[in-house]
Parts: sequence; C-alpha cells; structure tokens
Amino acid sequence: MAFSHNYLLFSSVLSVLAIVGNGYVWPSPVLDRMESIMFQQSGLLREGFVDGVSPCGFGTNIEGRQNAAEWVRTAFHDMATHDAQAGTGGLDASIMFETERPENLGSAFNNTFGFFFSFHSYRASMADLIALGVYASLRSCNGPRVPIRVGRIDATEAGPPGVPEPTHDLDTIVSKFASMGFSKQDMIQMVACGHSLGGVHGNDFPQMVGSDSVEAFAHFDTTFANYDSAVVTEYLQDTTQNPLVKGPNETNSDLRVFSVDGNKTMEAMADNAVFQTTCASILERMINTVPSNVALSEPLSPLPVKPITPKTTLNSDGTITFEGFIRVGTTERNDTELAVTMQYANADGTTSSSNVIEAIPIRAQGGSGSGIAGDFNYNAYQFSAALTNGISQFNVSVKPSSSGIEHYDNEGHGFPYRDDIIIQEPQSCLISTQPDGNGNFNLTVVAAVKEKLISTPTYLQVIEKFPRQGVLIPGLVERKVEMKAFQDTTFGYKLLSGSYLLPSVSWLTEYKVINGDSQDDFRSTGSLTDSCGPF
Ligand code: HEM
Ligand SMILES: *[C@@H]1O[C@H](CO)[C@@H](O)[C@H](O)[C@H]1NC(C)=O
Ligand SMILES: *[C@@H]1O[C@H](CO)[C@@H](O)[C@H](O)[C@H]1NC(C)=O
Ligand SMILES: *[C@@H]1O[C@H](CO)[C@@H](O)[C@H](O)[C@H]1NC(C)=O
Ligand SMILES: *[C@@H]1O[C@H](CO)[C@@H](O)[C@H](O)[C@H]1NC(C)=O
Ligand SMILES: *[C@@H]1O[C@H](CO)[C@@H](O)[C@H](O)[C@H]1NC(C)=O
Ligand SMILES: *[C@@H]1O[C@H](CO)[C@@H](O)[C@H](O)[C@H]1NC(C)=O
Repeated sequence: MAFSHNYLLFSSVLSVLAIVGNGYVWPSPVLDRMESIMFQQSGLLREGFVDGVSPCGFGTNIEGRQNAAEWVRTAFHDMATHDAQAGTGGLDASIMFETERPENLGSAFNNTFGFFFSFHSYRASMADLIALGVYASLRSCNGPRVPIRVGRIDATEAGPPGVPEPTHDLDTIVSKFASMGFSKQDMIQMVACGHSLGGVHGNDFPQMVGSDSVEAFAHFDTTFANYDSAVVTEYLQDTTQNPLVKGPNETNSDLRVFSVDGNKTMEAMADNAVFQTTCASILERMINTVPSNVALSEPLSPLPVKPITPKTTLNSDGTITFEGFIRVGTTERNDTELAVTMQYANADGTTSSSNVIEAIPIRAQGGSGSGIAGDFNYNAYQFSAALTNGISQFNVSVKPSSSGIEHYDNEGHGFPYRDDIIIQEPQSCLISTQPDGNGNFNLTVVAAVKEKLISTPTYLQVIEKFPRQGVLIPGLVERKVEMKAFQDTTFGYKLLSGSYLLPSVSWLTEYKVINGDSQDDFRSTGSLTDSCGPF
C-alpha cells in the first residue's frame, strides 16, 4: 500500500490525550475537535453531528430506514471482530473495508459513513466518530449518556471476519462474544441494548420478515423510536414481534441469546431505569473495545470556557488582528447575562493593564447554542482586536450580572497563543476556477513567519484525501511542502509562500504551517477564496 508509511506521522497528534480536573489543557488537536463535535449541536457554533439521528426515528426519507439504529449497529459490527487475547481489532473503523461481507448485510454501514464523511479529519478519526455516534443516537432517542473517550486510530485495511449471525448456534455466538472479551451476561445485555432501536429489513432478510420488500421493516419492539426496555418487557411477556425471537428457528438468535441463562439477565433489565444504566455501561465497554495499541483519553466533558477558532492576521500597518470566539458554558447557570473579557500577554510575555479585549455577545440565535438533549448549554462571544505588541497567551474572565467575577486560566497554564507563525488567509487562495489537466486545484498558502525562525525550514502541511477502492471514506495522508520567503516586512516578519496541487476529492481539507515547534492551527481550505490578495 503506497501510502502506509505516512500513517506513522499521525501518531504524533494522538500522543497527548491527558484530561485534567474538569476538562483538559487547551489546545489539544483531537480533544478540541471531538469535544466541539460532541457538545456544539445546535444554535451558534453548531457542528450538527446529531442532525442525522434527530428526531430518533429519522431516516433520510427512505422507507425502512432509522439512522439512529444504523449508527448503533455500525459500532457493534466494527467492534465484533476484536480478538481480546491478541489485542487486535475492535472499534477501529475497519468496518469501512468490510461492507460487502455477508456478515455485514445491508446498506446501514455506508449510510452511516456517508453521514460521518464531512466530520472525518486528521483530528476526528472514523473510529472516534463511530463511538460518538452511539452517544448521539441514544441521547437523541431519550436514552442514557454513554461516556465518550477519544483517541481511536483508524485501520487502514480490512480485519478478519467474525460478526455473529442469526443463523449461528448458541455455542458459536457465546464463543464469539467470549473472544471479544464479553461474558454470557454481557452478551445478553449488549444484544438487548442494541435491539431497542430499529429492526430487520425484508429486503436483506426476507426469510425472517416474510417479505423481500424495502417497506417490510419488522421492528424489534413497539417503541423502536424510543430508547427503552420495551425490547425486554415485550419479550418476557411473550407479546414481542421481534423477528429474531418469533421468526424461523434457524434465525431466531435473540431467543437463543436472551434465554441462555433462563431469562435471569432479561428479567433484571425489565425495569426501565435499570435498562438505562445497564445499557450505558455495556455500550461504553463496547465502544472502548479497541486494539491494545490505542490509548483512550478520559471521558470528554465540555470545557467551561473554550476559545473557538482563534486566529491572527498580520496587517500591512504592522498590527496583528486577533479574532475568534469564546464559548462559555451556561448549563449550570441561573444568570446567563455575562460580560466576557480576555487579558492577554504580549509576544515577549509582558502584560499591561490595557491588554484587555472585550468579547461581545452575538445577537443571532439568542447568543447561545446547545448540545444534545440538554447535555450542554453555552453562550458564544465574538472578539476582534488589533494588537501592537503581539500575543503569547491569554486568560478569560466571566462576570455574571448578579454575582462575582470568575477567572478561567486553562488549568493554571493560561491559554497559549503564539504569533511566531501567522497564516495569512487574505493572501492565500484555493484556485478552483482553473483546475490543471488532471482536475487538481492549486492551493497557495502565505504565512508571516518571525525572522528569528527563518534560518530553519518552514513547511506547509496539507492533509490530502485520497479515494480508496471499495471504501466510501477517503484516506488521509499528510503532505509537506517547504515554503519560500518572497517578501520582507518592516515588522520582524517575512512572508513565505507554499503551494500544493489538491485533487478535486480533496479540495475541502485542512492545512497548517509548521516551523520546528512553532505552528499555526489547522485551517480549513473552505474559508479560502479563489484569488490570493496583495499584502
Ligand atoms: C448475536 C448477536 C447479534 C445478531 C445475530 C444480530 C442480528 C441482527 C440482524 C439480523 C439485524 C437486522 C439487520 C437488517 O435488517 O438490516 C440486526 C439489526 C440491528 N442490530 Fe443486531 N444482532 C446482534 C447483536 C447486536 C448488538 C450487540 C447490537 C448493538 C449493541 C446490535 C444492534 C442492532 C441494531 C441497532 C439493529 C437495527 C438496524 C436497523 O434498524 O437498521 N445488534 N441485528
Ligand atoms: C422450533 O423450535 C421449537 C423449540 O425447540 C420447536 O418446538 C418447534 O417445533 C420448532 N419449529 C420448527 C418449525 O422447526
Ligand atoms: C424466557 O422467556 C421466554 C419469552 O417469554 C419464554 O418463552 C421462555 O420459556 C422463558 N424461559 C425460561 C427458562 O423461563
Ligand atoms: C440557581 O438557582 C437555584 C434555585 O434558586 C439555586 O438552588 C442554585 O444554587 C442556583 N445556582 C447557581 C449556580 O447560582
Ligand atoms: C493567566 O493565568 C496564569 C495562571 O494563573 C498566569 O500565570 C498568567 O500570567 C495569566 N496571563 C495573563 C495574560 O494574565
Ligand atoms: C460501500 O461503498 C463503497 C464505496 O462506494 C462500495 O465500494 C461498496 O460496495 C459499498 N458497500 C455496499 C454494501 O454497498
Ligand atoms: C500555484 O499557483 C501559484 C500562483 O499562480 C504558482 O506560483 C505556483 O507555482 C502554483 N503551484 C503549483 C504547485 O502549481
């Protein structure tokens, strides 16, 4: 595989996943990205990950489709090929390469990937997105909160087969769960917790449903659009229409699984409150079943105060524009009328009492946003300031109208933000109007780089997407191009330029500029225009 050596480079991003106290020390590429995808669902700064599963019964207008069910099933089928003894497989997105296997019958998997497509990036692995999909589906369906740890690494090829199938006998199913690292009781719980949503499709399993039409979608329980214990109670009362219980003996695996311990585990889960806590726990174990080389973070919780897409731009008068958003959590607040200010240190580390930036409430959308099902509420504030002495770090103060001032200093570190390297978006461009003969777009990136760094090379790093045979999600590969100085400024910076020809599949991607330890954040090519402007 021509690209495989490049995957080694990805490990550097994933190495620091420590979470401290209430949150984690900002910035952290993977944690920052996944935290935003998890907690910014609607309103200002929305990522909209939940859109695919909201409301719970939502299915993109296709008969017999329930996205929330498909996302949960995707997580199970991906995990199910884990070999606990060897420490291989598990939630690693290898399912992307395995959609044509008989054990992965149906369109659920590609449907799921199609939705995750636009969230997948260098910082958000498909495996982490699949895990997050379980959280989002359950919350959207009135279910429990499954804690989300991140740091999963995507497989780059198919793994061995091994997903249990309805035709397998009980011993086979039990031993498959055992090799994944789960007991008989775990197995019963996990299957019941999965089969609270969705059902069996006639077009994929006609013998079970008694019809091969797309419309024939036989639900596991009567409340398939609510995450509850009905799958258990209807089974125990023998009123169930679950085809994996009531269908032909050859394929009634739920009956075999549910009754393996004389219904003991099912009886314990009949109570809805017990069902919720049991499922949060077994599904958490399911999504944390990962290859042994993966180190997962602590569970994500929202940062109380988070800088969102801060960026700097060097202006032709020598000032530096510093702009972006501050997200302030309001979930636990009675008083959400907040005055938000930032205190920053100059590039040389010194501060002065005038180094204060006021962050302004945003008028649109009530100035606020939220996570799924009330899991998080926040206000968003916008800031933009012209700095004359640069910046090295900042802190944030929040003053509710009815109580005292609160200081947020990023767990005592201050929020680091350096101006050694400044990506100059106004001088950068993605020339989509003039593709070359192969349909590639010219990405040109200009950065202002401090003169003290010029003796060592500066690189434009581009995350290029490449199509993969039989896989819906493109692969990601890191490309590096050395940037060349082309203009001096009188402000202690030189302007450097680098360019890369991006294939059309990859025109919407991310890039950054690096010199040794100094770097600007990842930026999206989506915010670049067609023409590079003058400085
Ligand atoms: C013995 C193990 C299992 C067997 C044999 C099994 C079998 C099946 C079958 C045959 C379907 C119908 C698929 C279709 O028509 O598209 C299905 C659907 C589903 N399974 Fe399982 N399953 C098992 C365990 C699990 C587990 C552990 C979970 C998750 C925790 C799960 C989650 C789901 C979900 C959510 C659906 C509904 C999909 C939809 O409506 O599109 N299953 N399962
Ligand atoms: C299915 O299994 C049950 C219980 O083992 C048995 O009583 C029944 O006759 C079987 N049905 C068929 C159609 O084989
Ligand atoms: C378990 O529950 C099912 C469904 O109600 C029932 O058919 C079966 O006899 C029960 N098994 C035991 C051992 O009680
Ligand atoms: C919010 O108001 C409730 C009820 O008045 C009170 O119990 C609670 O302590 C208040 N919380 C905060 C953070 O002020
Ligand atoms: C931010 O807070 C940290 C820790 O309290 C402190 O060391 C630093 O000087 C503060 N920075 C500014 C700009 O006030
Ligand atoms: C999923 O999508 C890939 C890429 O388009 C395709 O090759 C594969 O056959 C699809 N799988 C199924 C089951 O349709
Ligand atoms: C991209 O366009 C710029 C400006 O036209 C040009 O200087 C550069 O050589 C091009 N880059 C590539 C890789 O073709």
